[in-house]
Amino acid sequence: MKKYIIAIDQGTTSTRAIVFDRNQNIVKIAQKEIKNSFPEPGWVEQDANEIWLSTLSVLAQLFQGHDIKPQDVMSIGITNQRETTVVWDKTTGLPVYNAIVWQSRQTASIIDRYRNTPKEKVIKAKTGLVLDPYFSASKIRWILENVENLPPVENLLFGTIDTWLVWKMTNGAVHVTDVTNASRTLLFNIHTLEFDNELLQIFDIPKSMLPNIVDTSDVIGNIDPMFFFNYSCPIGAIVGDQQAALFGQSCFDRGDVKNTYGTGGFLLINTGEEPIISKYGLLSTVAWRINGKVNYALEGSIFVSGSLIQWLRDGLKLFQDASQTEEIATSVDSCNGVMIIPAFTGLGAPYWNEKCKGAIFGLTRGTDIRHIVRAALESMAYQSKDLIIVMEEELQEKIHEIKVDGGASKNNFLLQFQSDILEIPVIRSQFSETTALGAARLAGLSAGMYTMDDFKEVEITRFMPKRTHESVEMLYDDWKRAVKSCMSY
Ligand code: G3P
Repeated sequence: MKKYIIAIDQGTTSTRAIVFDRNQNIVKIAQKEIKNSFPEPGWVEQDANEIWLSTLSVLAQLFQGHDIKPQDVMSIGITNQRETTVVWDKTTGLPVYNAIVWQSRQTASIIDRYRNTPKEKVIKAKTGLVLDPYFSASKIRWILENVENLPPVENLLFGTIDTWLVWKMTNGAVHVTDVTNASRTLLFNIHTLEFDNELLQIFDIPKSMLPNIVDTSDVIGNIDPMFFFNYSCPIGAIVGDQQAALFGQSCFDRGDVKNTYGTGGFLLINTGEEPIISKYGLLSTVAWRINGKVNYALEGSIFVSGSLIQWLRDGLKLFQDASQTEEIATSVDSCNGVMIIPAFTGLGAPYWNEKCKGAIFGLTRGTDIRHIVRAALESMAYQSKDLIIVMEEELQEKIHEIKVDGGASKNNFLLQFQSDILEIPVIRSQFSETTALGAARLAGLSAGMYTMDDFKEVEITRFMPKRTHESVEMLYDDWKRAVKSCMSY
């Protein structure tokens, strides 16, 4: 009997492959870092071939040793950094340009063409997104306009990373994306759940480049045996990484919220079977579609979260390991007036200010590393408060708790401060790989290894609010003042 599900988690900084057993326990993890390049200020690119080769490499690592055999794997689920755009020539299989990463701002001038025009309203109403370089459409247009000696357009294919990987894994046989990834392209109508001709016309993108759309949990093809030790394993799920974490956190009901601390920070709230078009800069997005039944979410995307800690470590060299930040932050009672706005690539939700730059406020001769580190962690919690406030407005309901995951969720200081500032319990699962778990669950569902009844909550740690409401208001007012100054600088 087949025993395992593999989740491939292709993220912004690394590619991972994780083996899960029938009880959703992790059996083995393999990981490979991915290089990011910054050809010009604000640009972020990756090598799409490196992403593919890293996927092959982590899959191969799983089978080193004899404990796990490819034939024991029932299905593969893919979860991925979303929006990142690859365009390739289907006759050669070669990308025509680097992958343009979701964080990259190099397409800002393309987006400016549509700002404050009637098209902006159409785009927002149909896609549920905001007009921003974050999404794939302007990245595709940029490639079409800027890459020299492009192959004939009928040879070009577009894909987000899920699509690129599936196309490579099936040796060019399957060109698909799922509804969650499609809903991040700015070309997808979240009401009809199809790519939209009017949007394609607006961005002048040929339909022939686009993948077919599939359910989130479905067998969409098999990996070519040459990439999987002569075994043709089914690919049973494709899901954007934030939606995967929502599923992995068992946020199945309307009003359930999760907050992932990754490179960026992503808060998603399940909004049920109808999309909500946000009045406050949140993104309406597809959470998943299973057996044709769709579930939506509202998302607040924070561009810089964990990468702020990375910058303090690698850019400012304030410490050697991110795990030291908890001890450093708790070695002082407060930030001593220091406030950091991590707007390195502008500000995402709910501000959507792409020109704004980062800032550190409140420096005095008494400021030292400890205050800066503490202020960095606190900024991550303030950003989540900005989003929780608008989520409550959108749903017209109080949010009662929030589930957290991702690298920085190991930091007890951060989670306690987040609970204090949000004034609600913050819940950390003992199980840290919720994104991969989400993809494995979705692949296990289509393979018949799991049913929804198997997806119970796992053991948790609960952080409870401890500050008075008055002190929270004072701190949050300072944060808002600093954001305002930053945007007017
Ligand atoms: O929207 C971008 C997001 O999917 C990237 O996630 O985990 O790679 O930072 P991550």
